[in-house]
This record gives sequence, C-alpha cells and structure tokens, in this order.
Amino acid sequence: VFLTNKNILNMIDKAKLQIGENSYEFPLIEGTENEIAIDIKTLRGVTDGVITIDAGYKNTGACQSAITFLDGEKGILRYRGYSIEELAEKADFLEVAYLLIFGELPSKEELQKFHEDIKENSIVDDDVRKILDAFPKSAHPMGVLSSLTSALTAFNPSNDKINNIDYERTKKSLYDNIVKVLGKIPVLVSWTYRKKLGLPLEYGDNSLGYVENILKMMFKKPNEDYVPNQVIITALNKLLILHADHEQNCSTSTVRIVGSSHAGLFASISSGISALWGPLHGGANQAVLEMLEAIREDGGDTKKYMAKAKDKNDPFRLMGFGHRVYKNFDPRAKIIKVAAYEVLNDLGIDDPILEIAKSLEKEALSDAYFVDRKLYPNVDFYSGIIYRAMGIPVEMFTVMFALGRLPGWIGHWCEMRLRKEPIGRPRQIYTGETYRVFKSISQR
Ligand code: SDX
Repeated sequence: VFLTNKNILNMIDKAKLQIGENSYEFPLIEGTENEIAIDIKTLRGVTDGVITIDAGYKNTGACQSAITFLDGEKGILRYRGYSIEELAEKADFLEVAYLLIFGELPSKEELQKFHEDIKENSIVDDDVRKILDAFPKSAHPMGVLSSLTSALTAFNPSNDKINNIDYERTKKSLYDNIVKVLGKIPVLVSWTYRKKLGLPLEYGDNSLGYVENILKMMFKKPNEDYVPNQVIITALNKLLILHADHEQNCSTSTVRIVGSSHAGLFASISSGISALWGPLHGGANQAVLEMLEAIREDGGDTKKYMAKAKDKNDPFRLMGFGHRVYKNFDPRAKIIKVAAYEVLNDLGIDDPILEIAKSLEKEALSDAYFVDRKLYPNVDFYSGIIYRAMGIPVEMFTVMFALGRLPGWIGHWCEMRLRKEPIGRPRQIYTGETYRVFKSISQR
C-alpha cells in the first residue's frame, strides 16, 4: 500500500539508512502541505564521507521556502497560499509582486507607497546607454538584458552591501534593493526592445500604472501620442502574474545560489536571466513559436513533428511540452490558452499558428508516448501566441518571461538572505584519474 505522507508521519519521525552493517537515522521534516524531506545535513559526518547524488536535483530539496507551493500531480500552483487562478483573474501584477516579496497582500496605502518608491528608483544612469550602444542590433535581447542588469551594480554600488548589523537595517537595505530592481529593469527591457528596432529610447511615465508604463516605454512611437489598449494591458498583467514565481526552478535556484555567496541583487538577477535564457527553461516560449512557424512553413504537418519528437535519434523535442514537476496540466497553460483566444478575438487577429498549436496539443494528449510520460503543455506553449498578437518580436518573449519572474527571483533572494542560508556548494563523486606522477615533456 502506498504510504501517504500523513501515514508516514503518524508512524515514524525518522528515516533509517542501512550501509553494509551500519544503520543510520535521519530526522524527517514536514512542510505545511504535508510534504516530507529527509534531513541529511549530518550524513557525511556520521558515515565518514558518504554523500547522496541526484543529477538535476530531481529528488533533492535545496531549501525550505514559504513563497510558492506547487503540486505537480494535482496541477496546483499557489503564491503565499493564494491560487494562481484567483490571482491571474483578480489581482494586479504589482500587488502580486508585493505578496511574493513581503508575504502578504498590500493595503491600498502600502501598494501606493511601494509603487511611489519604485517610480522614484526607476531612473537608469545615462551612461548605461553607452553600454547598450556597444551591442550590435543582432544581439539576443536576453544577453543584452543580463549584461545591462549586471552593469547596474556599477551605477548603484550600495546595492552590493546588505546591512547585516540588525534585522531592521537589513530589511531597509533589502527594500532599497527591491524598489531599484523593480524600477530599473523594466526600463532596461524597454531599451533592449527599442534598441533592436532602432527606435529612440523612452523613459517611464509616472502617471501610469506599473504594467501600462512598461507597455508605453516599449511601444510608444516617435512623435506620436501613446494610445493605451486595455486588452493588451489586461493580457500583459495576467501574463506577468502567471510568470511571477515557480519555487525552485532552474533560474530561481541560480539566483539563490549566486546570492548565497553574498553577491548583490543585480548580479544575482543577472545570473537568473542567463539561466532563464536556455530553451529548456524560459527560452522555450521563443522555441515554441519557432517550432510552430516551422510546422506551418512545412505545410502544417503536425504528425511529422510528433514522430520527430518521439524519435530517440532525433534531437527535436515538442517545445512547450513536459515539465520537471507538473505530471498533470500546468495550471498556467490552461489560463494562458483561454487568454490567447480572448486576446486574438479582441484584437481581431486570426493567427494560423494557434490552430497548429491546438492540433499538436490534441494529438499529444492522445498519444501513448506523451501520455505515458505525462507530458502536457506547459506555461510556454501558448504564451508566445499572445506576445506575438501584442506585437512583441519572438526574440523578446523570454525577456517578457524575465520581467514577470522578477518578483519571484527577488522574493527568494531576500528569503535566502534573511534566513542567513549558507553558501551553496554541492559535493560530487570524482570519476577521473587516480594519482599519477608528473613527467616532464622530454619524458612523455
Ligand atoms: C519552464 O522548473 C520550472 O518550474 C520551469 C518553469 C518555470 O515557471 O520556471 O515552469 C518554466 O522552464 C517550463 C519548461 C519549458 N521547457 C520546454 O518546454 C522544453 C521542452 N520540454 C523538455 O525539454 C522537458 O520536458 C523539460 C526540460 C521541461 C523537463 O525535463 P526533465 O524533467 O529532465 O524530463 P526528461 O528530459 O528526463 O524527460 C523524461 C522523458 C524522456 O523520455 P525517456 O528518456 O523517458 O524515453 O520525457 C521525454 C524525454 O525524452 N520528454 C520529451 C519532452 N519532454 C520530455 N519528449 C519529447 N518532447 C518533449 N518536450
């Protein structure tokens, strides 16, 4: 009988490990959602050097966290206890950012002050433009954004030092970092976008909401008034909320481990942007659109691409499908799929690749290869269709993912620093040459 977590904890509070003749006990840790972990922090000491190994950390927890809970089997995702469905439908992105970072939804006054402080910290030093100008137009926006984010440390040196003297001063020091990141990175995103299109760079408009200001900075045409489109503002607000956090994913784990060396918040987020860039992670939204376009150019032959995805000798994967944690539908994919229809409908756009995406999804959901491996559409499968409808170029899709993920990265970085977590330093099992004597080149 499969023991449920409740059974296990009612029966035992320790795990037993047998190595040869010796047996060892380790305490069990239980989370608020009844998840259980074996705490092996004493393992090397009591076993004279034995470690565990788990490529890709598929079964290994890096930390305890109170920010986001997800249940891959049930397709549940909650930020600080609130369901992603409710937040995506009813919340504003900046209040979700506040919730993820500080743990509670803000009052009207708290949110207003938070937004004011962000606006006050949204000026980007003009010298950053010189760094931006050094990039060729062909540079991928994720590489540009990661570089400019790291460069912000040079213009905000105080961001490097978190005041550790006492909790209050630490919190103030963290707060100053937080509002600078949320103020300056949207400007960098807009500059990166406009540089690619050869448009003059725009500064923010403090009379606008946070999300609307991002759209104006990106899309305002030279010598024209900016005309807001509520459909696009609502869609971007929802997309940013859906991308805001996802517990210990590759890029957030990167931000936490880089921050664990006490590197600054800008440097840690710059590393998270680089990790997100990969096509197996946030870069998948760009890869999905390129895949759908390739299928369309190939006559819409989805069956051919399904066969390629299942062929072990073919490196092709069905991008936007599968997930390390979700072995059920990614709840975000369901919400984005509905939003894609609404946006295309509201904007009067008939995008043929939406039909290709739908037929791929239909085929995969009834194909044994995908069903047996529990491969469902993930957050990246439909998001690109909305970004494209909003006029965002495909190379900017992952930048939009990064913009959404900022509060998650910030929240985890602060949680790690406030909990004074140790520097991350995994162990390894060495499989190289054993000792051998050096021979000078004349002897070899
Ligand atoms: C994100 O972690 C997060 O939370 C990430 C994220 C977030 O919000 O931060 O949710 C965002 O990164 C979503 C994922 C976006 N990536 C993609 O859509 C790329 C395509 N997906 C795959 O590359 C893959 O599914 C991963 C990377 C997402 C997950 O890889 P795992 O968990 O390491 O799984 P695996 O590679 O071991 O695959 C298990 C099996 C293998 O087949 P077998 O060896 O068992 O025969 O499933 C197969 C894989 O070949 N498989 C796929 C597939 N994904 C997995 N086969 C075809 N197409 C795919 N997409």
